[in-house]
Amino acid sequence: MYGEFPSARPRRLRTSPAIRRLVAETRLHPADLILPVFAREGISEPVAISSMPGVLQHTRDTLRKTAAEAAEAGVGGIMLFGVPEQKDAVGSQGTDPDGILQVAIRDVVSEVGDALVVMSDLCLDEYTDHGHCGVLDDQGRVDNDATLERYAEMARVQADAGVHVVGPSGMMDGQVGHVRRALDEAGHQDVAILAYTAKYASAFYGPFREAVNSSLKGDRKTYQQDPANAREAMRELALDLAEGADMVMVKPALPYLDVLRKVADTVDVPVAAYQISGEYAMVESAAANGWIDRDRAIMETLTSIHRAGANMILTYWATEVAQQL
Ligand code: PBG
Repeated sequence: MYGEFPSARPRRLRTSPAIRRLVAETRLHPADLILPVFAREGISEPVAISSMPGVLQHTRDTLRKTAAEAAEAGVGGIMLFGVPEQKDAVGSQGTDPDGILQVAIRDVVSEVGDALVVMSDLCLDEYTDHGHCGVLDDQGRVDNDATLERYAEMARVQADAGVHVVGPSGMMDGQVGHVRRALDEAGHQDVAILAYTAKYASAFYGPFREAVNSSLKGDRKTYQQDPANAREAMRELALDLAEGADMVMVKPALPYLDVLRKVADTVDVPVAAYQISGEYAMVESAAANGWIDRDRAIMETLTSIHRAGANMILTYWATEVAQQL
């Protein structure tokens, strides 16, 4: 009765692993992956992060080994975060040339040289006692322009330590342009900026707060974007590009694939996406309960992020996945 259907048989191209591999439109490559790592000051053994099973706060020694292992696996880059012993109102450790992040940059650059692109988080929240990404004014609000001066100083010390790429992640207005000028004036024209362009005020950062021993009370909704807004991301994008961003990022990744696609369709610079701590924790915890297949879920999330337009993906699974590919 309906004899003329099916008129085409797409299933023909799914009949074997070989043909599925041949027609795959999206392929992950180790060089597209960036490993975020935490360097903690003053510890002699690595410390486990309970909400991110398998991820550690590193000693100087284990940080070097982790970087070497990532390079060996062919991972493209490493994003360093510092966890200082002391925090204060202005985040002094973030601009101390001997602060933990600067030490970590020097250690990793000397360990892996140019085998990995070495990147650093350029933000104050790991270093402030109130946990915000900037300094506060006398009414306790995050002071945009005073924060820019702190970021300029951070950019200089990170570049002096030898970093290849800085990642301003605080969502202050004008941060990319301000950091660019500070770098240029200090003779660091070759240090690139990976701009956290569309960074949303997300519940999925939860485990990261443990990872950096964050002291934040409250939220970041006055500076990070509202999850309801996609068009606004395009405004942030235009500003970051005008200010000199070399690469742009969407963060988190999986809940914001629509934003990622829009950004990727618009720009002619490389696009990154950050698969954040909560995305990692969801997969690991569900897998630990036997509710999902861990390895398949990891590959599916990364493939989807790549398919949605990310050239580069920051993921805590970078080394493990690179080894499998
Ligand atoms: C800010 C920063 C954060 C993350 C990366 N950079 C925390 C935040 O904005 O609250 C989160 C990364 C993750 O959750 O994996 N320095």
